[in-house]
Amino acid sequence: MTAGEKQAAKRVAQLREEIEEHNRRYYEEAAPTISDRQYDSLYAELADLESRFSQLATPDSPTQRVGGKPLTAFAQIEHRAPMLSLDNTYSEEEVTNFYARITRLLPNEKIPVVIEPKVDGVAVSLLYENGALRYAATRGDGTVGDDITQNIRTIREVPERLRGAAPKLLEVRGEVYMDKRGFEKLNEEREKAELPLFANPRNAAAGSLKQLDPAIVAQRPLGVVFYGTGATEGVDVDLHSKIFAFLKKLGFSATEKFWRADSVEKILKAIHELDHIRRDFPFQTDGAVVKVDALAQRERLGFTAKSPRWAIAYKYEAERVETRLIDIVVQVGRTGTLTPVAVLEPVLVSGSTVSRATLHNEDEIKRKDIRIGDTVVIEKAGEVIPAVVAVKTEARAGKEKKFRMPSACPVCGGKVVKDEGQVAVRCINSQCPAQLKRRIEHFASRGAMDIEGLGEMMVEQLVRRALVREVSDIYTLTADKMSILERMGEKSIGNLLQAIEHSKTRPLWRLIFGLGILHVGESASRALAEHFRSLKKLMEASAEELQRIPDVGEVVARSIEQFFQEKRNRKMVERLEQLGVRPQIEPRRVPSADSPFAGSTWVVTGTLSEPRDGFAEMIIQRGGKVSTSVSKKTSYLLAGEEPGSKLAKAKQLGVRVLDEATFRKMLAG
Ligand code: IVH
Repeated sequence: MTAGEKQAAKRVAQLREEIEEHNRRYYEEAAPTISDRQYDSLYAELADLESRFSQLATPDSPTQRVGGKPLTAFAQIEHRAPMLSLDNTYSEEEVTNFYARITRLLPNEKIPVVIEPKVDGVAVSLLYENGALRYAATRGDGTVGDDITQNIRTIREVPERLRGAAPKLLEVRGEVYMDKRGFEKLNEEREKAELPLFANPRNAAAGSLKQLDPAIVAQRPLGVVFYGTGATEGVDVDLHSKIFAFLKKLGFSATEKFWRADSVEKILKAIHELDHIRRDFPFQTDGAVVKVDALAQRERLGFTAKSPRWAIAYKYEAERVETRLIDIVVQVGRTGTLTPVAVLEPVLVSGSTVSRATLHNEDEIKRKDIRIGDTVVIEKAGEVIPAVVAVKTEARAGKEKKFRMPSACPVCGGKVVKDEGQVAVRCINSQCPAQLKRRIEHFASRGAMDIEGLGEMMVEQLVRRALVREVSDIYTLTADKMSILERMGEKSIGNLLQAIEHSKTRPLWRLIFGLGILHVGESASRALAEHFRSLKKLMEASAEELQRIPDVGEVVARSIEQFFQEKRNRKMVERLEQLGVRPQIEPRRVPSADSPFAGSTWVVTGTLSEPRDGFAEMIIQRGGKVSTSVSKKTSYLLAGEEPGSKLAKAKQLGVRVLDEATFRKMLAG
């Protein structure tokens, strides 16, 4: 081997390992750590080396595969027509080449094309037979994808039955996205609950569709844009530009805005116009797709190995700006994790002002060689979360300071450790006030025990005044004890006490989630609650037993075991019980297609024996949807006492109205 070959072999091995790791993060965890652009450049470098040193090309190289492994927890569905991907480009020159190429292949013909938004979400394929939704699947490897029918059914825009004269068979293709505003709200909530944040709306959408529990999916602000068809029978459309209207007529939310063009100039003009307006769309876009309009011409152009010759995707650059890194501060989280945060000179990126950005951990800072005082490049990945992508080392004046992670907790001064195999540093003093505050905030948060009035400010006071020293102390609070608090009148104290009282009977999964066990998120909590059905049983479970539960891996199992090995935590659980916390254990059934709930839309109104949210959850868990207003699409109105105008509307529209007793009968099957 020559020295050059040796060097190439080394780099190829390194690139493969890196790409595999990024694939795993992208496809399996839905949490990538690099931008598409950076990924594309690693991939291109590998492909280039493999073509120059053909002896290094192997069939198991990431360049020889498309997409990730489908998740095994979902049933698999074979697509009727394969789901292909598009050639991507970041250059206008390649768009020009694309049009020149198809003109060469179809000489002396006019070739109108359509330019439409490239929605940055998750590709899905839905199958309708005689107008009824049969199933929905992810793209998977292009041939076989995950069966995500129950999750897709929770999206309001997805029709269960098609309107008007429906074709015999229709495989419809589209992109599930997370609404940009909803995404920001979701991340705000996750930040409070100290759950890992989604990097951008696409990952949030992907992460949502991967949930095994449709009830969680139903709470996520998802939408779909449909842009095409796969296999069809009884569909007679000859132009792509007519498909949007065709889909709309059937009841789909199809692409609203598109352009037609028959020259390179017009194509580029459309691409620029789209770039100007795309920020106003509710979904995130990362490019423009250019497609030949006439299906007959498409057929003659055909495909290359991976993608059609009749289409190309032009990707827009993510917006980047420079600013100064004023400082790096360290935040202490609920589980003690120390997170370095960049304090930036405020700067406008993609329409909003950014003054902070997470730096993840010390390794990341070292790897990028980020120093305090540096001029840094900020990118809003997916237009939403700011990240420091690079440092302008050439702009250094010599006074920049290297950052070192503190060797003691910046809040309590306690010892910090680095867990084996983890990059994060943690403060291990469980009495650390920063951790305690975060733990209580998390326990009381909307996603957990949902105690209204127990927010950041209130928790701050309770901890400072030593009224609360651990989570269970919440249930020892009295009006008398709280009378010393600032800005708290009798009425607000009364309200808070009532909210605390209410929380005692929340579902068990909320209590488990609320304990804030490291790595135990919402879906693991639901799985644990369903399996053990009592906190005591969970407390006694061994790591092996825990690992047999879906959604619980080795790390989670060990973390739970460790949590309950701590005497303090066991005591706290006992104390919760003594103080009257009696979580509800819900019967959970897997929604089946023939259940009367599957695919039905409900409105819940009036006063019922429990809060309406609880009823909504029961409906969702059985495969139904819940909406806030009565319309022709409503299947049932569940009406309690004093139902008001919704009942009148339902009667007027002929919607079936159920009282609680009948509803409960229906639940019982
Ligand atoms: S057409 C054969 N149109 O981009 C062409 N795809 O890399 C099939 N996408 O897997 C795709 N918006 O997930 C098409 N308006 C659009 C799109 C779009 C987003 C995604 C889709 C596909 C990927 C192609």
